[in-house]
Amino acid sequence: MTRVLEACEVGEAVGILRSGGLVAFPTETVYGLGADASNDVAIAKVYEAKGRPTGHPLIVHLAVADQVSEWSTTTDSRARILAEAFWPGPLTLILPRSKRVSLAATGGRETVGLRVPEHELTLRLLAEFGSGLVGPSANRFGHVSPTTAAHVVDDLEGRIDAVLDGGPCQVGIESTIVEIADDGPVVLLRPGGVTVHQLELAIGEPVLDGRGGESRAAGMMASHYAPSAAVRLVDSIGDLELGPRVAVIMTDAGVRESETEGERGSEVTGVLSVAHLPSDASGFARGLYAALRAADEQDPEEIVVVRPTSGRLLKAVLDRLEKASS
Ligand code: TXA
Ligand code: MG
Repeated sequence: MTRVLEACEVGEAVGILRSGGLVAFPTETVYGLGADASNDVAIAKVYEAKGRPTGHPLIVHLAVADQVSEWSTTTDSRARILAEAFWPGPLTLILPRSKRVSLAATGGRETVGLRVPEHELTLRLLAEFGSGLVGPSANRFGHVSPTTAAHVVDDLEGRIDAVLDGGPCQVGIESTIVEIADDGPVVLLRPGGVTVHQLELAIGEPVLDGRGGESRAAGMMASHYAPSAAVRLVDSIGDLELGPRVAVIMTDAGVRESETEGERGSEVTGVLSVAHLPSDASGFARGLYAALRAADEQDPEEIVVVRPTSGRLLKAVLDRLEKASS
């Protein structure tokens, strides 16, 4: 049985984590699957519960940026600048690991992903726990990340000890990941809640896009973030022939576009279901994973998603949509 813990039960969660158990926690991005980052047995349970191959490294979550010096040997000023500018927040820094970081957590790598999440409950959990918690997204490997405690239970019931319920996630898609190798450029591995423009403004130098290269972050693999039904990405519903077994996820703008065609527009009819998300990419991101899960539950032949076209998080949303549809 997986227990659902309320905000007043942070102490319970800390106790489970101290004894090597697994507790999923809320963040501003998605729910993470928490375990003691200094306990290799607990880390092994995380891979087991998710069904994740052990070569895929885990992010370590910290309560405050000051703890970076315990987990990384970095002296890079850009790491300090980015941590100060964006933590707590949706940014993960890949840095050289310190000896404290177990190779079990990094999948054997000499680097470690670090992040201070922006969620009051989880910051309290981390502070009371007093050390780092690994936290991959709390879903079965390859599935859509969870943005509510109920999503976590849907994926991991019976496989983890508890989930701390902190309500729906405010950003809705995973953190931005950048790697900072000593003296090298800052490299983007996954777009997310902090934009490249924001990063470049903070450090005063370009951020290289590392997504085209070797698949260093597991999230770069096609087939990630995918529901079980096939996902088709389109620019508008327009003249598409959609059958009765198709689930549609569309933007408010998508509605307006098709309204110009008269009757059909404001209501897409003859399909299994229609979900509407805000046309701004940030609002779209917040609702996307819940919409994909809800569509998937209806066992559709296909999920048709109308792309958003603007907004601060457009790049990150299109990245996830492309992965879901490949
Ligand atoms: O927003 C997030 O980042 C969420 C919340 C819970 O914090 N966590 C998350 O973790 O998305 P996960 O494990 O699902 O995705 C982290 C990605 C994986 O693709 C992993 O391979 C990559 O980060 N990663 C972690 N450590 C790395 C490292 N040392 N080098 C390269 N990639 C790394
Ligand atoms: Mg994940």
